[in-house]
Amino acid sequence: MINRRKFIQTLSLMGISTTSAKSRLMAKPAKPNSKDNPIILCSRGEQWGRKVLKPGWDILRKNGELLDAIEKSANVTELDPNDTSVGYGGLPNEDGVVQLDAQIMNGPDHNCGSVACLEGIKTPCSVARLVMERTDHIHLVGKGAQDFARMHGFKVENLLTESTRKIWVEWKENLSDKDDYFPPADGNYNRDRSTGTINVLGVNKNGDVAGITTTSGLAWKIPGRVGDSPIIGAGLYVDNEVGAVGATGRGEEMIRSCGSFLGVEYMRNGMSPQEACEAVCKRIIDINGGPSKVDFNDKIVALSKDGEVGCAAIQGRKGGEPTVATWSKKGFKATKGTYLIEV
Ligand code: GLY
Repeated sequence: MINRRKFIQTLSLMGISTTSAKSRLMAKPAKPNSKDNPIILCSRGEQWGRKVLKPGWDILRKNGELLDAIEKSANVTELDPNDTSVGYGGLPNEDGVVQLDAQIMNGPDHNCGSVACLEGIKTPCSVARLVMERTDHIHLVGKGAQDFARMHGFKVENLLTESTRKIWVEWKENLSDKDDYFPPADGNYNRDRSTGTINVLGVNKNGDVAGITTTSGLAWKIPGRVGDSPIIGAGLYVDNEVGAVGATGRGEEMIRSCGSFLGVEYMRNGMSPQEACEAVCKRIIDINGGPSKVDFNDKIVALSKDGEVGCAAIQGRKGGEPTVATWSKKGFKATKGTYLIEV
């Protein structure tokens, strides 16, 4: 068995420089640039989209590094305590501990990195990037991921805010009427089970593609639960010849359908990004036995390497369509996608 590092070392011994060998053997040639590139996308609407995409677009429009652009954009939600589905301020697991999942994928060398069940680090996508760039591995989880982050200078902090602590206490106090917790008599609880998450996808002016998915996962999850966000091909997939697909929503469905990989393959076989997003939703509905069996939601976003955008959700309603935001030379734009089941 030969790992990536040994392979590169072998090439070095053969007199082939490692960086040039890596790029010669692994890089996919970018297609000619489309007029819409560079472009950066996130799986949010008007309200968050502008805030999230601004730092990434500022990098891309000056022809900066694509990976820096998507990381800086994803960091916006990770660092914002008011977003309860990603990073700092994310809703915790059933023990009241925030466990974060994230992945990054880079089209040109088809490399990727991911962290799961990462505690105490506000910006898991930045740790995932270091896993990709500074190790020979792809996934680091739990304490190992946190130790690795500390080794690279990340600070371990309490990620539970006063607001998310209170929401967690409310959930816990209302779990059962047979335990010893008493909810306040006039409690007006918010018991939503959030699966927020964010995907940030980008194409630079050369047509190179990259993406990030980052989340605090399903609120009140069983400690140790890993969702789709850090799983390559589930919560995100990037192929430099085709484009990128990312997902938010119920992660278990994205994992068992390999949904993001499937979306990229649909695009490779000729579907538009929009058609691919809808086809992934349909596949998940079919796997579950049809629309009447579906009581969850997933939202898929796609970006082709030509800068074409897609967005579809399994469930939606008029006025509550899934949204996607982009920033390109044409400016910022929030667009409504489609849904397959009216709820
Ligand atoms: N899609 C986020 C999760 O299920 O964890």
